[in-house]
Amino acid sequence: MRICKKINEVREEIRKIKKENKMIGFVPTMGYLHKGHISLIRKAKIECDYTVVSIFVNPTQFGPNEDFERYPRDIERDIKILKNEKVDLLFNPDTQEMYKEDFKTWVYVDEYSDILEGKFRPGHFKGVCTVVLKLFNIIQPDKAYFGLKDAQQLIIVKKMVDDLNVPVEIVECETVREKDGLAVSSRNIYLSKEEREKSICLYKALKKMEDLIKNKKIYESKILIEEGKKIIEKEKNVELQYLEIVKISNLKRIEKVEKDVIILGAIKIGNVRLIDNIVISML
Ligand code: PAJ
Repeated sequence: MRICKKINEVREEIRKIKKENKMIGFVPTMGYLHKGHISLIRKAKIECDYTVVSIFVNPTQFGPNEDFERYPRDIERDIKILKNEKVDLLFNPDTQEMYKEDFKTWVYVDEYSDILEGKFRPGHFKGVCTVVLKLFNIIQPDKAYFGLKDAQQLIIVKKMVDDLNVPVEIVECETVREKDGLAVSSRNIYLSKEEREKSICLYKALKKMEDLIKNKKIYESKILIEEGKKIIEKEKNVELQYLEIVKISNLKRIEKVEKDVIILGAIKIGNVRLIDNIVISML
């Protein structure tokens, strides 16, 4: 596996690969790799001829009171995992390489970025879109792989690619979960044993809402959200930040469930924020 820390090195390598007419698959990550990331990498390996993974903890997508400094990092372990997965290239730049001192240009997807996660993390998606577009411009992949775990991110990146005619196909990948249903996340390691047990309430609420829609034919968002909230509010020391039902195409809230909606939620347990969602494609 080739490891590049500099943009110029990546460009040189990509030029060679493009000359060979190879299809490039790209998986952007912030590292501390887990089963979720690996599922994206495996999908890219199956569909493409050359797989690039980036590891970059992007400071511009973290708010001033968020966990940028303490975001888990273990590059040596990550490199072992990537070698094991037979990834072709790892791009692992440092902050100065990605953001020069006089950096001024930002990408912002209007409306989609200030709701749900964006309400609780102002500026988050501006940082995400900017770094993702930069990474696309550096790596020039044919396909890029994103997890449904971060559904709002996925929808916003798709919108950016569509609006700005970025020549990259966005491939969405199912959420990988632990045995009890908790969505795998780098941040799960912050949970104490007791918090880990409580953490499952968000997934339980989402599953309950799905069950009410599919089996009890209840479609009123208000009723569904109340039922979901009850499950989360039963847990002590768990703060519900939002639980909403929106159209998957444009993230707009709906009063009555129809097909292709997504239920998204976020909770805070102690210092740890967890997000999850469930897609309802058919009624
Ligand atoms: P990170 O949180 O490291 O996630 C990288 C990719 O892995 C994202 O597309 C995310 O949705 C996916 N992923 C994480 N957990 C997953 C799970 N349990 N199942 C399936 N996929 C999962 O998301 C980011 O990094 C950053 O915002 C980034 C896009 C790299 C921009 O900085």
